[in-house]
Amino acid sequence: MKLDKVQKAAQEQFARQSHRYGQGHILENVEDVQAGLEFTQLPPDAKVLDVATGGGHTGLYLASLGHDVTLADIAQPMLDRAAKTAAERGLKVQTSQHAAEQFPYPDDSFDLVACRVAAHHFSSPESFMRETARVLKSGGYFLLIDGSVQDDELEAEEWLHQVEKLRDPSHHRFLTPCTWARLCEANNFSVVHSQLHPFKQPDLNWYFETAATSSENRKQVLELIATAPKSARKLFELTEENGKIVWWWQRLTLVARKS
Ligand SMILES: C[S@@+](CC[C@H](N)C(=O)[O-])C[C@H]1O[C@@H](n2cnc3c(N)ncnc32)[C@H](O)[C@@H]1O
Repeated sequence: MKLDKVQKAAQEQFARQSHRYGQGHILENVEDVQAGLEFTQLPPDAKVLDVATGGGHTGLYLASLGHDVTLADIAQPMLDRAAKTAAERGLKVQTSQHAAEQFPYPDDSFDLVACRVAAHHFSSPESFMRETARVLKSGGYFLLIDGSVQDDELEAEEWLHQVEKLRDPSHHRFLTPCTWARLCEANNFSVVHSQLHPFKQPDLNWYFETAATSSENRKQVLELIATAPKSARKLFELTEENGKIVWWWQRLTLVARKS
């Protein structure tokens, strides 16, 4: 697998941090996936690809519904961990190590491509969307869940970008809802649903630990928080609760259907 700089950074970061994404991680709660699936109509034994599966929370939930699921990720230790969890839960899944920008599957292979809380690491969301369109059957669904920022909140978006990049240098960029919609439309999808939901980051220190943020970068993030512009403070409801710094991510759920 030939990787670019952004892909390599993500692979190294998540291979190192895979132990943090299993049980007890906030991503274990899949209510957002359940809500997104309400906008799809899948056959009972749908063929599903979960791109950038991480600890496997999304893909394993889909497998528990009886679907035929492939868990894919760029970092093999993530896939090993997800496969172990699948075995513990008595779920049968396939795993496949590859980048989100190039898939090793034939055209028209899947009924659903899911991707949750990962696309902000992709070096080329354009290639990811092209590949998603290619491997989906006609009428198949794309379910995207990821951090995002309203299209007209440029200052808050730039602030959050700096925070996320310092916290985890493998962060690439959150895309706005309109950018995702344009990417979908350019690849022959109709957007069925697109909505931002606030999602709580319950503790900045926990968030640092998840990414093993360096102490120098932690200092810089704290400085950015202390001097956050009003727009960011308001949009992300940046505050302190019981000595913990908390804020609310804007999380986008987008469901699109291939023509
Ligand atoms: C936060 S985790 C994903 C969470 C998971 N989807 C869930 O629902 O729990 C992010 C994952 O994206 C993967 N990743 C990052 N960049 C990638 C890329 N370009 N191609 C494939 N996987 C990538 C990382 O290895 C990591 O496992």
